[in-house]
Amino acid sequence: MKNFLHIKDIPTKDLKKIISDAKKRKLKRKKLNTLDIDKDIPLKGKILLQMFEKSSLRTRLSFYLAIKQLGGGSLTLRPEELHLGIGGESIEDTSKILSTYGNAFMLRTDSDKKLNEFKKYSKIPIINGLSPSSHPTQVLSDIFTIQEIKNKSVSKLKLCWIGDASNNMMNSLIEASLKFTISLNIACPKDYQPNKALISLIKKRNGKINIFHKKELAVKNCDVVMTDKIISLNDKGNKKKKLNSFKNFKVDLKTMSLAKKDAIFLHCLPRGGEVTDEVFLSKQSKVWQQALNRVYVQKSILLYCFDKLR
Ligand code: CP
Ligand code: NVA
Repeated sequence: MKNFLHIKDIPTKDLKKIISDAKKRKLKRKKLNTLDIDKDIPLKGKILLQMFEKSSLRTRLSFYLAIKQLGGGSLTLRPEELHLGIGGESIEDTSKILSTYGNAFMLRTDSDKKLNEFKKYSKIPIINGLSPSSHPTQVLSDIFTIQEIKNKSVSKLKLCWIGDASNNMMNSLIEASLKFTISLNIACPKDYQPNKALISLIKKRNGKINIFHKKELAVKNCDVVMTDKIISLNDKGNKKKKLNSFKNFKVDLKTMSLAKKDAIFLHCLPRGGEVTDEVFLSKQSKVWQQALNRVYVQKSILLYCFDKLR
């Protein structure tokens, strides 16, 4: 069994295998309905337990469909209905019980410490469905989407991230950029740069990652423009102040016009004021395809965790 907690911990060859498996499985489902099960029924009889300490639409639905299409089932636990926290049951006992009843556990949490604690006592695979430091399933799926649309290895493309460079999406995207040797330009305010540990990792690995404080410089000649909500689920600081710092980092039509002519726009959703409607709803925006692809990539992540990747 394997966990899927952070991109940096997963060997590059396995990340690539997940993506190629997702591509094959997606192709094979062309004539199937949403709830039809893949012919090989690889996770027959398996149950995925999911728990969300923070809101979720896409991660919740995509994992539900992913395990279902692989022949298994899922149960979503509501943290306030468990004994965990309020009832005084420890993470250790909860994790051991989840391992007794379930076959895999997907957790969206407000604490990386909690994620590690669950992992420590778990005997079943744990998947990080977003934590303050990481959103690995989303970022791997985004790489899948980019390669699907561009029909090229992501290592041959130039990506641009405009926005908060200190959040979970950015951390996972930087980790992925190092794994897939992606050329990545980041445009962010000075107070919201990638964290120091990541900056030194970029230097150590000679990563093709450049940081700018003007979006116009970062976006030039890029193939993909990405952004994310300025205020993240786990943000605890002064929101008004943060929003104000990003006023020059909005993705609008003028910004997109500086990227390559055939550049695409991606956003993991939900969105806030970081992108204009004109861009978000434009032909260049591939956000709906991006959201749906979570199902396909999640399936291959599950197979990886169960040691069932072909
Ligand atoms: N992109 C994403 O993770 O969406 P949800 O928060 O709705 O799951
Ligand atoms: N950075 C965002 C991602 C949402 C999917 C957040 O953590 O809220």
